[in-house]
Amino acid sequence: MRSETPREMGLAPAYFPLGGSHAALTEWRTCTGARVASATDADHLSVVPSLQGTLPMEEPADIYPLLRRRRSSRSMDPERPVDAAWVRRLLEAARWAPSSGNGQPWRYIVFDQRVPEALERARACLSAGNQAWARQAPTLILSIAKLTRDDGATNTKAEHDLGLANMCLLLQAVALGLHCRPMGAFDAQAARQAFHIPAGYAPLVMIAVGHPGDVSVLPPDLIEKERGPRRRKPLHDLAFLGEWDAPGAADG
Ligand SMILES: Cc1cc2nc3c(=O)[nH]c(=O)nc-3n(C[C@H](O)[C@H](O)[C@H](O)COP(=O)(O)O)c2cc1C
Repeated sequence: MRSETPREMGLAPAYFPLGGSHAALTEWRTCTGARVASATDADHLSVVPSLQGTLPMEEPADIYPLLRRRRSSRSMDPERPVDAAWVRRLLEAARWAPSSGNGQPWRYIVFDQRVPEALERARACLSAGNQAWARQAPTLILSIAKLTRDDGATNTKAEHDLGLANMCLLLQAVALGLHCRPMGAFDAQAARQAFHIPAGYAPLVMIAVGHPGDVSVLPPDLIEKERGPRRRKPLHDLAFLGEWDAPGAADG
């Protein structure tokens, strides 16, 4: 039985490695075990409309292509809703995240075209800075940590585990060719009241989701950020070998 092409697997072009080179394609195939059958698929690699003009000047190297491709994008197409089946796939990806004691302390409230009035209320919870771009997002997903375990004890890992689940959701979005950006700047108290979130559950991060949109319609400062270099601390400031602050962990 022949293996599926990326398209047959339902992967969007934006999932493919940047650049469109044969080397990138080979790397992607090696990492995923996928077969890329036709020249058309290879051609796709060099035509990723969502990225044109937005390519970051720095790119992470030597990591799995899906991770390398992920970035928090602000440009979303307000005219193109995210299909409910795709939203389900994002939530399903989150559902399979690891968690301490398999406690699965994540909850999500989805806001989209299916309940427009709730979507508008969710948008109103965002900070002014986030509203400047996130109003374009057709879907918002509020991620909520369940702070206690099922036996009532405090779950000290709840926020960590919600973060893991959110990352799964974000990576699934990348695989589908969607744009996503998590937001901590929103009024959690207002969200609690507006959406009847009970005590013991903490609304932590709102995630904007949409199909790639036109970067040039963003406020000028955000266009610059979208197109600007990505910045990260050097690895030797972040990882130590054997004891705190000892060098060498990344000398591989
Ligand atoms: C918990 C959390 C909260 C964030 N809050 C916001 C926010 O309120 N507004 C925003 O524009 N970006 C927000 N971000 C996105 C970060 O700014 C972004 O992840 C960071 O700059 C790194 O960029 P990258 O995700 O493209 O690698 C948040 C990210 C996380 C993980």
